[in-house]
Amino acid sequence: MYNWVKKYFNVLILVFGVQGLAATAAFAEEPGHYDLGRIATEEEIAGWDIDIRPDGLGLPEGSGSVMDGEGLYEAQCASCHGLFGEGEGRWPKLAGGQGTLTDNRPVKTVGSYWPYASTLFDYTRRAMPFTAPQSLTNEETYAITAYVLYLNDIVDDDFVLTKENFSEIEMPNKDGFFEDDRPDVNNKACMKNCKDPDSIKVTSTIQGVTPLDHLDEDAEVEQVSEEEAHAKAVYEQSCAVCHDHGVAGAPTTGETAEWEARLSKGHEAIVKNAIEGYTGSEGVMPPKGGNMSLSDEDVEAAVDYMLEMSK
Ligand code: HEC
Ligand code: HEC
Repeated sequence: MYNWVKKYFNVLILVFGVQGLAATAAFAEEPGHYDLGRIATEEEIAGWDIDIRPDGLGLPEGSGSVMDGEGLYEAQCASCHGLFGEGEGRWPKLAGGQGTLTDNRPVKTVGSYWPYASTLFDYTRRAMPFTAPQSLTNEETYAITAYVLYLNDIVDDDFVLTKENFSEIEMPNKDGFFEDDRPDVNNKACMKNCKDPDSIKVTSTIQGVTPLDHLDEDAEVEQVSEEEAHAKAVYEQSCAVCHDHGVAGAPTTGETAEWEARLSKGHEAIVKNAIEGYTGSEGVMPPKGGNMSLSDEDVEAAVDYMLEMSK
């Protein structure tokens, strides 16, 4: 892979000649802070700079209605957060909990706890659905945000959330936070009886902590086909979060006994359950693990991968 990149880069320079070099010189010549790496380009920074401020600064153009949000939420969020935001099993609740903040066990939700609606938009766009973060469009994020606000009785069912009216949303607990006004203590560092820095030597007492095996270039590398690699990647991205360690009642990959019982249903039935989702005696298996961008074939491949690992 690395060689390929190097070759490709050389070819680029060949094709673009001196002009190409001049164009790449900008970042080639500008080392980053402390001479490490290089200064990030504007496009690279833009990819990370997606935060939204409480006053709405940073919101993208767009809008979305409670009505549109309902379907999107039911398809992409309800499997974990519950149809009404009540939370399936032990997944986080997104609604309710008003008036519980002073209880011994406060129920902190978007409606009972969060001071700003911007966090809801930002968090959803950045991190949800759990197994397919950043797969939602801005319009979808507006609609789902509107719907979660509706689930918390903050807006009405005919509400349309837009970039323009966003900052007018008032969260019930907006006054529940205050700035910590306790003064700094300004303790002075003790600079008496210090050791002479030159007399301090760092020594490692643990021998052989750095594994060197992987440096053996002749070591055999396991060959995997493209299909196997793809199935593994789907599994890692969308299924491992629950199935690696049996989270939320999911059968654990690698535990032969847990899978043998399920296999009696037949391979086809198991794949169907993984694609369409279902509620079993152990818990809720969300459709496609909550990642609706997966094709049916992807899910089947991931199931086969799990079964193979559990033999
Ligand atoms: C596969 C399960 C799953 C799905 C599907 C899912 N979430 Fe989540 N969600 C989680 C988990 C787990 C957390 C807690 C993550 C953490 O604390 O790191 C969470 C946290 C959240 C939170 C923060 C809750 C809080 O009080 O801290 C919000 C808001 C949220 N999700 C919204 C959504 C929305 C909107 C969707 C649909 C677009 C969605 N989630 C889909 C599992 C899921
Ligand atoms: C949010 C957690 C979660 C995620 C993510 C998840 N699963 Fe599951 N899965 C479960 C739970 C819980 C069950 C067990 C439900 C029961 O039988 O009670 C389950 C069961 C299954 C089963 C057994 C079906 C049967 O009929 O016995 C298969 C196969 C499966 N999941 C495949 C997948 C695949 C493939 C993915 C990724 C694309 C995935 N799961 C992602 C929670 C999850």
